[in-house]
Amino acid sequence: MNNWLSNYSQKSTWRAIGLMSGTSLDGIDAACIEISGDFPDVKISVLGFVTHTFAPGLRERIMSVCENGHVEDLARLDVELGSVFADAAIEVANACGLELEAIDVIGSHGQTVCHLSSVRATLQIGQSALIAERTGRPVVSDFRTADMAAGGEGAPLVPFVDWLLLRDAGVHRITQNIGGIANLTWLPAGGTLDDVRAWDTGPGNMVIDQCVRIASQGQQDYDENGIRASQGHVDEAWLYEKMQHPFFALPAPKSAGREEFGRAFALQFYEEGKRRGLAPNDIIATATALTARSIAGAYQVLWKTEKVDPAGCEILIGGGGAFNPTLWHMLEVQTAPARLRRLEELEMGSDAKEAIAFALLAHAALLGVPNTVPGATGADRAVVAGKITPPKVL
Ligand SMILES: Nc1ncnc2c1ncn2[C@@H]1O[C@H](COP(=O)(O)OP(=O)(O)O)[C@@H](O)[C@H]1O
Ligand SMILES: [Mg+2]
Repeated sequence: MNNWLSNYSQKSTWRAIGLMSGTSLDGIDAACIEISGDFPDVKISVLGFVTHTFAPGLRERIMSVCENGHVEDLARLDVELGSVFADAAIEVANACGLELEAIDVIGSHGQTVCHLSSVRATLQIGQSALIAERTGRPVVSDFRTADMAAGGEGAPLVPFVDWLLLRDAGVHRITQNIGGIANLTWLPAGGTLDDVRAWDTGPGNMVIDQCVRIASQGQQDYDENGIRASQGHVDEAWLYEKMQHPFFALPAPKSAGREEFGRAFALQFYEEGKRRGLAPNDIIATATALTARSIAGAYQVLWKTEKVDPAGCEILIGGGGAFNPTLWHMLEVQTAPARLRRLEELEMGSDAKEAIAFALLAHAALLGVPNTVPGATGADRAVVAGKITPPKVL
């Protein structure tokens, strides 16, 4: 038996770091948690969280590799990002006042550069060998491929952790992440892992961010605190038209990405808005409403199929979109009478949940615990997702 792995399984508490960079390309979220208890009754406490922002220009280079990368650019970026992910891990350990030796495992989602659910192909880069080399710790990475090999979409993966940490015996809950893309997890009251459903609802901040970049000629990357959207008017007729996008009518489970709502979609959206005579902030307001409407539309379907009264349902909002009050207000109006709650109320930062999730997914992988949800990804069965890079042997 491999020593480090058997030592790992014999511990009773573990410290794990989770690293996540999503489609917004705003930087790496890094969380350090302490884990205790056996699956599925694990408990965590959050020791620290940082967002390691990308150096100037890195975001654009990642975008350009995603859009028309050559194999050599991809290979270069893989090692460069590996080093940046390592920096993020070191930064969060420092923020917690912990030596790297005190960290039992690092879970790294990596940076998605391509996700083709139709052919079950996905690629996350940020070379784990580099993270392991720089930190000396075992790294679990490449979480999506095993689920795809088992017939799934490879996404979403966070629902496993939503169920572990946020399920409730008496209240129906929806956890709603609003990153670049938005996705929901359905956690019925007292439900088992088999009852969990999850899918991408459509754009999160992705279209908003891109419209803000165009409107500000690259001076702003996002609509800080939803100010621009709050100063614009939603074009309802145009919004109705945009809601006819085929993705919204697809049956769940389904996943979306830059392929559906990336730069090409946003450029066309912005041009259309201009042709309708809209001011920049009206276009941004309508992009924000598209996110809110598509999320609320998904709940209508969910509540109907699950025969649930929305009044008895809590919605836990996380991801960067939780910090946009204009979006929050639109969601509140459109999802009433369900109750919107901040993850902070459940002792979890809105921006930290996904990074926490990859720490826990890595922990499950090292213990050999299946950590995917077929009800979320559409796979034939649950698998142990994540590839292991062993720690440095000194
Ligand atoms: N204060 C804020 N006001 C408005 N939007 C915000 C704010 N903070 C973060 N965001 C939005 O959240 C996005 C990042 O969200 P995140 O959950 O990190 O997404 P991803 O997982 O795709 O990286 C930013 O691009 C921005 O659109
Ligand atoms: Mg992010």
